[in-house]
This record gives sequence, C-alpha cells and structure tokens, in this order.
Amino acid sequence: MPTTVIAPTNIAVLKYWGKNPLWEDYNIPTKSSLSFTIESLYTITSVEAKRGSGQISFKLNGKIKEKSSKESAYVIEFFEKVGRFFSFVNFHDYKIESINNFPIAAGFASSASGFAALTKAIVGELVEFEPICGSDVRVSAIARLGSGSAARSIPSNGGFVIWGRGIDFRNCPNPADLPKNELERIAFSSYAETLFGPDHWPELSIIYIEIEPKEKKISSRVGMKATAETNPLYATWAEYEENEVKESMISSVKKRRFSVLARLMMRSSNSLHAMCFGAYPPLMYLNDKSINIINAIHELNAKKTQAAYTFDAGPNPVIITLRRYQKEVLSILQETIKNQKVHISEVGKGAYFCDEHLF
Ligand code: ADP
Ligand code: DP6
Repeated sequence: MPTTVIAPTNIAVLKYWGKNPLWEDYNIPTKSSLSFTIESLYTITSVEAKRGSGQISFKLNGKIKEKSSKESAYVIEFFEKVGRFFSFVNFHDYKIESINNFPIAAGFASSASGFAALTKAIVGELVEFEPICGSDVRVSAIARLGSGSAARSIPSNGGFVIWGRGIDFRNCPNPADLPKNELERIAFSSYAETLFGPDHWPELSIIYIEIEPKEKKISSRVGMKATAETNPLYATWAEYEENEVKESMISSVKKRRFSVLARLMMRSSNSLHAMCFGAYPPLMYLNDKSINIINAIHELNAKKTQAAYTFDAGPNPVIITLRRYQKEVLSILQETIKNQKVHISEVGKGAYFCDEHLF
C-alpha cells in the first residue's frame, strides 16, 4: 500500500523571489517570506517505494509524465538532492501519482503543494525517515529542496507561516568549501514554521480568481534568477523587505489589523512586480485584467480598506478580505471577473497523511 498525503498550497503575502546565489542549488532564499495556508486548493500525492536503484514513475493529473518531460525532470532532480543528505533514498524505486485540484504553473503555486505533498509522502513511506518524520522543521527544509515555496506548505498547523532565510546572502560561505556537517547545518537552517494557526483570524477569506489558467511562459524559477541577476536594485529590495517590512507584517496579523496587513501586502506584491519589470529584458506577469483588479480594489478601499490583492508570477489575483466584506468585494469585481472561475477559501492547516490512496 502507498503512503498518501494531502498538502494545501499557500499564498505568499511577503514574497520569496530570489535565491542566495551560492546556495541556489539548495533553494536557500535571499530573504524571508510569509504566507497563508490555503484550505481548499491542494495536491494529493501517493508514493510507493520498493527496493531498487532509484527508478521513478510519475503520473500527474492522470497522465504519465515521461522521464524527458519537465515535470519528471523536476521530480528526479529533487530525489537527487534529497539523496545527497539521505543516501538510502537512492536504493528504492518509486511509483508516484499526484493530483492538483487547481491549475498548474499558472501562478497558483502548484509547485508548493506538489512538492510539499511529495516530500511528506516519501518521508512517511521510507522507514529510514522515521527519526525525522514528526519534525515539521526538518521535513519543511527537505521540501524546500524541491521548490522553495513548498517549505511553507509543510507545517502541520498551517495558518500564517514564516519561511526564514537561514543565512544572510551577502555574507555567507560557499557550500563547496564546507565539511559535510557544516553544509548540512546550513542547508537545514532555512525552513518554515507556523506563527499563528488558522483559528487565529477566522474572519479572513481568500479569493482566487482564474483570469488565465494557462501555463505561464516564464517560470518562477527562471524569472527570479533573471531578476536577481539583472535588476541592480534587487539586493536593496530584498534587504528592505527582510528588515523593514517583515516584522510589521507579522505584527499586523498578530493584532488582526486588516488595513495594515492590506497595505503592506499590496505594496509588497507591487514591489515584486516592479522588480520583475526592472529586470532586463523586463518580465511582465500581470495583464490588463490584473491591472483592472488593482485599480478596482484601490477604488473600493478609498473609503475603508476592505480588500487586498497579491499576485505571484502570473496574472491571477489572490484577494484577501474579511468575511463581512466578501459580498461587496465580489460585486465590485464582477465586471472584470465575469465568466472567470473563482475559488473562495479559508486559511487552513498544513500537510497531512490520509488513508485514501490514488492507486
Ligand atoms: P506554479 O505557479 O504553479 O507554482 P511553477 O512554474 O512555479 O508554477 O511550478 C509548476 C511546476 O511544478 C509544474 O510544471 C510541475 O513541474 C511542478 N508541479 C506541479 N504540481 C506538481 C505535483 N503535484 N507534483 C510534483 N510536481 C508538481
Ligand atoms: C512568486 O517556489 O515556485 O510564488 O524554489 O524555484 O521552485 P522554486 O520557486 P517557487 O517560487 C515561488 C515564487 C512566488 C512567490 C512565493 O510563493 O513566495
């Protein structure tokens, strides 16, 4: 019987956008990020391991992904990285099936829920992982090796999550110069944990709008590298978010001050897209409809702050509001979102094992 995990996706309100250049291979970020765990958008993944030599068969949304496909390549690369720290991983063959209940690669963070579910399922499946299976901190750092944002979908308590950068990217050792134990210490120093569980602010409501469910042309991975390498303001931006924005955002959630959170998260999303536009050649993830939504929300908020938008690497907005404002928010967006698919979710718990298997 396989091991099966359900992992929710998460939406960052303080974004991860760029890797520590020396630690790129380990997905150690240049700065911390903050996210809400999304109850109703998730991945379900079943993994079965048998003694073998590291062969992987991978089915995503009902379709076999050939070894040469980018989806399989991504998974194979993940296993290779995990095998550097846990060599027993290399001595098994794996059958993996996974289903996402929302669009892939459209800026809804499918890599987050996808790699969180895969990581927890592997850790649950292999007995050798037993000593760390209950440690969300360790499992989160492993998920990070697959996709950075996946680290934030692991903490079991979900809710409002911080993923710390571990080391300062401007002054850090080169992994190639480090003995194994030091390399391991740093590689596992960047992980996610819950700051406030889902019960902390039950009034929050999260609205995903599928403006463009098609796959984006430039993945987050490629886009963040281009931004960090070609935008001369990048390091200043990363340090500003780390040192000037992070604590204020945490405090706004702690005190449940919606208008403060809304302002900080919209500014953070805007500054991410400004960073992208400042890359060369410029990266543009937003489209006309995204801009219409930004304008409509600022108009709505002119009297009283009722909603806030955030955009990942795609044109699809995620809107955070309070339940008492939800109806009005949807009504003012009606013109822009008619005929678009809308998902409404609460903040939920993190990844968990489940007894219903995909095969
Ligand atoms: P997104 O905005 O959806 O996160 P990314 O380009 O960052 O877009 O990541 C999308 C990639 O994540 C997919 O092309 C696929 O390789 C991987 N992915 C998505 N879902 C899963 C899954 N359930 N299991 C494993 N990998 C997945
Ligand atoms: C815009 O986690 O997909 O969604 O680590 O290269 O796999 P990799 O990148 P990924 O990037 C997510 C970027 C983002 C912002 C965020 O989720 O914090």
